[in-house]
Amino acid sequence: MGETVIPLADLRHAAAVPRIPEHPEPPTGLVADRLGRPLRDLRISVTDRCNFRCTYCMPKEVFDRDHRFLPHASLLSFEEITRTARLFVAHGVRKLRLTGGEPLLRKDIESLVAQLAALRTAEGAALDITLTTNGSLLERKAGALRAAGLGRVTVSIDALDDTIFRRMNDVDFPVAEVLRGVDAALAAGLAPLKLNMVVKRGTNDGQIVPLARHVRERYGTRAVLRFIEYMDVGTSNGWRMDEVLPSDEVRARLAAAFALEPLAPTSAGETAERWRYADGGGEVGFISSVTKAFCRDCNRARLSTEGKLFLCLFGTQGHDLRALLRGGASDLQIAAAIGLVWSERTDRYSELRGAAPTGGSSPKVEMHYIGG
Ligand code: GTP
Ligand code: 5AD
Ligand code: SF4
Ligand code: SF4
Repeated sequence: MGETVIPLADLRHAAAVPRIPEHPEPPTGLVADRLGRPLRDLRISVTDRCNFRCTYCMPKEVFDRDHRFLPHASLLSFEEITRTARLFVAHGVRKLRLTGGEPLLRKDIESLVAQLAALRTAEGAALDITLTTNGSLLERKAGALRAAGLGRVTVSIDALDDTIFRRMNDVDFPVAEVLRGVDAALAAGLAPLKLNMVVKRGTNDGQIVPLARHVRERYGTRAVLRFIEYMDVGTSNGWRMDEVLPSDEVRARLAAAFALEPLAPTSAGETAERWRYADGGGEVGFISSVTKAFCRDCNRARLSTEGKLFLCLFGTQGHDLRALLRGGASDLQIAAAIGLVWSERTDRYSELRGAAPTGGSSPKVEMHYIGG
């Protein structure tokens, strides 16, 4: 018998409605999963749409004109997102990251930022509110986002060379516009700013040193460039191990051009290993999900565009919070259901895959849907 192929549209709907405990208890802020990992970071995907077609994320052969994105009614509203985020904060979440797709395509995103920025922890502290963007609309939006209460921003940039950049985004978008967005974000006070480069061997690996040099010279310590190993996320990007450039190799190429020194981690569960230029020229990071998994302290939960909770970037099954939000459940009930789901979590995909990288044949959720 042949392997069952699950179409994308069905896959992203795979979700079970979480169980509400019979006697719900209010959150203590101390929930931990089966591996002892707390819940600290909520990544919220606000749209599954994107104006780029990065080959490693939304290849245009798959996400073509016939692709059906989610209808507006199935997206969580800003009020639903804020309500959910508040319940996660009660469980100990301290960082909210808006992602997509491209989050700046969601209409009036500033007003969501403003609602989230008003949330406080039980101790009355503000949250770390940030956003991952491809930068295409940043020049226009940076000021309004900052005014709404966004703290900082991460911009994806896979090359400095315009031809290679256009090839990576595959919609012929010029790198100069993204760089203007980065300037605008810094001018608006969205700092420290992070830049993410996904490295694909044979495609943009020649850009490691030129991009690092540009970031160093233009932004110095105001921006941190991070190199990300190309991951086997989703099922549509045709991932192959031979296109992964291990972080050790990226670092060796960088070290041949600039002297580097290691830095201590700033917090448990961090995705990036931090290094700095020995001459004080700034900091770089290496995100090595393929060659050096960082699941051990993973404290990240993901909320999909239509309100499914995923416990891992490589999850295959979501937990349908929208069904509770729209089904009349109380805050206490939904918070208790979230606590229960987290307390049963055992996910550590990258660690397990690290033992035998195959490209994965199991049906996984796409990154633009679940949120990077
Ligand atoms: P800050 O350092 O606080 O800005 O956040 P972050 O490191 O979580 O940053 P960001 O959202 O920019 O994540 C960078 C990239 O790391 C993502 O785009 C993913 O490629 C990868 N990544 C983030 N979280 C995970 C994770 O939990 N597992 C894996 N395997 N990769 C992740
Ligand atoms: N591998 C690594 N990172 C990815 N991203 C998307 N797809 C992949 C992949 N296959 C991340 C990149 C990008 C962010 C939006 O999502 O970091 O900057
Ligand atoms: Fe869009 Fe970001 Fe995916 Fe590129 S990586 S297609 S910019 S969501
Ligand atoms: Fe966390 Fe899953 Fe990434 Fe491991 S693979 S760090 S468990 S999201």
